[in-house]
Amino acid sequence: MHRLTTSILGLLTALVSVTDAAPSSLTPSASGTCTLTASGSDDAPAFLKAAADSTCSTVTIPSGTTLSIQSKMNMTGTLNKHINVQGTIKFNPDIDYWSDNAFSFDFQDQVAFWLLGGKNIVLDGGGTIDGSGQAWYDEFAKHSSTLRPILLTIFQATNVTVQNIHMINGPEWINFVNEGQDITFRNITISAVSTSKNAAKNTDGWDIFRSDNVVIEDSNINNGDDCVSFKPNATNILVSNLSCNGSHGISVGSLGQYEGEYDIVQNVLATNIRMSNAQNGARIKAWAGKGVGSGLVKNITFDGFVETNVDNPIVIDQCYETSADDCAKYPSNTYIQDVWFNNISGTSSGKEKAVVASLSCSPDGRCSDVNVNDINVTPPSKYGTPEFSCQNVQLSGDAASLFGTCETTG
Ligand SMILES: *[C@@H]1O[C@H](CO)[C@@H](O)[C@H](O)[C@H]1NC(C)=O
Ligand SMILES: *[C@@H]1O[C@H](CO)[C@@H](O)[C@H](O)[C@H]1NC(C)=O
Ligand SMILES: *[C@@H]1O[C@H](CO)[C@@H](O)[C@H](O)[C@H]1NC(C)=O
Ligand SMILES: *[C@@H]1O[C@H](CO)[C@@H](O)[C@H](O)[C@H]1NC(C)=O
Ligand SMILES: *[C@@H]1O[C@H](CO)[C@@H](O)[C@H](O)[C@H]1NC(C)=O
Ligand SMILES: *[C@@H]1O[C@H](CO)[C@@H](O)[C@H](O)[C@H]1NC(C)=O
Ligand SMILES: *[C@@H]1O[C@H](CO)[C@@H](O)[C@H](O)[C@H]1NC(C)=O
Ligand SMILES: *[C@@H]1O[C@H](CO)[C@@H](O)[C@H](O)[C@H]1NC(C)=O
Repeated sequence: MHRLTTSILGLLTALVSVTDAAPSSLTPSASGTCTLTASGSDDAPAFLKAAADSTCSTVTIPSGTTLSIQSKMNMTGTLNKHINVQGTIKFNPDIDYWSDNAFSFDFQDQVAFWLLGGKNIVLDGGGTIDGSGQAWYDEFAKHSSTLRPILLTIFQATNVTVQNIHMINGPEWINFVNEGQDITFRNITISAVSTSKNAAKNTDGWDIFRSDNVVIEDSNINNGDDCVSFKPNATNILVSNLSCNGSHGISVGSLGQYEGEYDIVQNVLATNIRMSNAQNGARIKAWAGKGVGSGLVKNITFDGFVETNVDNPIVIDQCYETSADDCAKYPSNTYIQDVWFNNISGTSSGKEKAVVASLSCSPDGRCSDVNVNDINVTPPSKYGTPEFSCQNVQLSGDAASLFGTCETTG
């Protein structure tokens, strides 16, 4: 039985569409719009069905509608689809269900609620994707082995735009771009904040892995781990006009962690970034030591950062998680070349006292052509003038005068 539903969108637009309360026969309107309604139980099957139906060129979740997602959603292979989220997509926090059923990735033991992939997809609408994270933050505090699902995974996708969306309460990473190309995120607000004593941990804003040509712009992020992280084989990335609060910064890496793997991060520009109350500002980290991997970090620019109360405003750590002795014995095989830290201003937190920039590379010329220009970051006044610390780096630009003679070890 079909039911005619009239939805008033805002005050100006009236959209008339034919929907089916029992989602077994969702019928698109003449315009190809299929409108989903909340069923009172698991809405994932209806959403999956609409996404897979080529006659539904637009799938709308109207304003005021909250879809309850109680089972995993594999939307890989989606073609030419506009997912118009005006209302809310809310993942039910059934920890037992997701622990047994979430999608899983070998990479860093990640799991996911929802895989969205295919070609020519727009996800927008001004609405909200809600991960019901509080239950997960509290569960993780009790059982740190609990794998918490990623909120949105763009997987095996080409030409996807995600824009004008609020992403709230992600249990863990918020966006994972895995094996994608030509992917754009714009005007996204992220909030992953715990209301209990248990912090919202590992809530990276974006992790980009094995993906090329990714843009992240014009967004606000309030979270508890990396604002954006470039994982292995992230290439040709633009990150622009972000306000990040409470995060671990814009991070390349960590890279070169896994023995036998070769990790590349190349051609990255991060520009016009406001970074507040963060552990790091602009950061590159790579593993050293015995039995780790290898790779190349090349042509990375951090430009136009305004930082406020940041522990480590400018960082290269090429002995990540490695003792000084081991780093001297087994220098990193992840080479770092052609890096620019340009036009970075603001304040550090004083956590590293007067040090506002720390460039620490493995011995034996593993970092080269590192440029540091127009830096005006000051520590809290009690620590006096800013200090710049470096080891084993070939510095270019203003850096030589800021850092003086770089210490050589190993
Ligand atoms: C997702 O669905 C596609 C078919 O549409 C299938 O090939 C793929 O194996 C599924 N992926 C997962 C992780 O279940
Ligand atoms: C990318 O997807 C958008 C929206 O689906 C479409 O309009 C555009 O033509 C696609 N671009 C390419 C190069 O296919
Ligand atoms: C950004 O997204 C919000 C909804 O999340 C919307 O209200 C606003 O108009 C969008 N801004 C632009 C410039 O599109
Ligand atoms: C930066 O992003 C904000 C949204 O977070 C937007 O309002 C503003 O217009 C953007 N600025 C530029 C220069 O695009
Ligand atoms: C920014 O982050 C800090 C530290 O996590 C937090 O205390 C503060 O409430 C956040 N500010 C906003 C506007 O959310
Ligand atoms: C990264 O790309 C290189 C070159 O294509 C490849 O050899 C390597 O296996 C890739 N690494 C990962 C982690 O995918
Ligand atoms: C360096 O990366 C930028 C993008 O950040 C790109 O525009 C530029 O062409 C790259 N340079 C080289 C030599 O590849
Ligand atoms: C330095 O960065 C700030 C903040 O992004 C920007 O407003 C300013 O125009 C930049 N200055 C130069 C010389 O590029």
